[in-house]
Amino acid sequence: MWKSVAAAPADSILGLTEAYKNDPNPHKVNLGVGVYMDNTGTTPILQCVKDAERILLGVEQSKSYLPISGDPQFGRQIQRLVFGEGSDIITNDRAATAHSPGGTGGLRIGAELIKRFRPEAATWISSPTWANHRGIFTAAGFPIKEYPYYDAASKGLRFEDLLATLNQVPAGDVVLLHACCHNPSGVDPDEDQWQKIAAVAADRGWLPFLDFAYQGLGVGIEADRTAVTAFAATGVDFFVASSFSKNFGLYNERTGAITVVSPTAEEKNIALSHLKATVRVCYSNPPAHGGLIVKTILSEPTLEAHWRQELAAMCGRIVAMRQALVDGLAARGVNQDFSYIKRQKGMFSFSGLADETVAWLRECKAIYVVGGGRINVAGLTSANIDYVCDSIAEALRQD
Ligand SMILES: Cc1ncc(COP(=O)(O)O)c(C=O)c1O
Repeated sequence: MWKSVAAAPADSILGLTEAYKNDPNPHKVNLGVGVYMDNTGTTPILQCVKDAERILLGVEQSKSYLPISGDPQFGRQIQRLVFGEGSDIITNDRAATAHSPGGTGGLRIGAELIKRFRPEAATWISSPTWANHRGIFTAAGFPIKEYPYYDAASKGLRFEDLLATLNQVPAGDVVLLHACCHNPSGVDPDEDQWQKIAAVAADRGWLPFLDFAYQGLGVGIEADRTAVTAFAATGVDFFVASSFSKNFGLYNERTGAITVVSPTAEEKNIALSHLKATVRVCYSNPPAHGGLIVKTILSEPTLEAHWRQELAAMCGRIVAMRQALVDGLAARGVNQDFSYIKRQKGMFSFSGLADETVAWLRECKAIYVVGGGRINVAGLTSANIDYVCDSIAEALRQD
């Protein structure tokens, strides 16, 4: 079967992690991988997750199937998290949520659902974006188009170009947007810009699909929902894919959600029926454990308060490491302005390091950065920050 088939290309970021693992250099630093790490360089299990697991161990009576869209209480809690208590979407029962295997599963189910009813649509992705966006929507059968996003010269957003392009997107096409913590750039629109983007969606009739993979890791749970709130205010149909890999640390439990928002409760009921039909033929019903953990935490005020503290600590550490990197480079006499790193949001940062510098850092210093210069700021720790700053300063002196 496979003799005449060429091998599929390896995932470039996971390949980088393999190379890092095999590197014998004791000073090696992994700034490539997309997981949160604490100040000891490990990806921890949150204490609130351990507490929820202890509760579940006591109360779980059965491992029978969950409903197709997951536990209904999970769906209600996710809507509260995504839209905020008292949102009109919740009060008027305008959203259908299905528990999905990770954010990736949510994106794919959303894409499959849209494809059923918009077979001619294209999907527009930001330039650049998380590589899997193209893969997921291509696999669901969509032609892919790009809208301008990141400006390498100003290290900011190409907002006028972005808006002009979104003004030309045909009605019915899908526009995939990072709701916060844009991966890979770390550059997000501000509140005013989100409102303008949402107004264009309402005016032009394209379908917004928000990828909400990092809620709580940019500024905070409430502040990070600025994009969602802007689209909610327009009353249009839109989709939100949530991931609980990063903000609950549930990477290997594959826990996420897809939420379909409709203008009315009647339309939502129709959407829900097709959402379930789509899930049924993909994986039938979701894996329970991660969703039950999230549901348990969000349903119990003490546990939720604890989760909020732990999430705020992760977010705070990322902000502190951004500051330490910028200050550390300035203290070493690097005259290039890196202050934009402090303005970026979330785990990722377009560092502005050229590909030759990235290659030199890897070969000579065992510091692993993704091609294009994306760094995971959470890979920096108080133990490696000086080594990283020394190495970058040395690399830039050689330029
Ligand atoms: C932008 C973006 N969307 C979605 C995901 C998917 O997350 P999950 O691991 O929950 O599938 C990621 C993970 O890295 C991501 O960066």
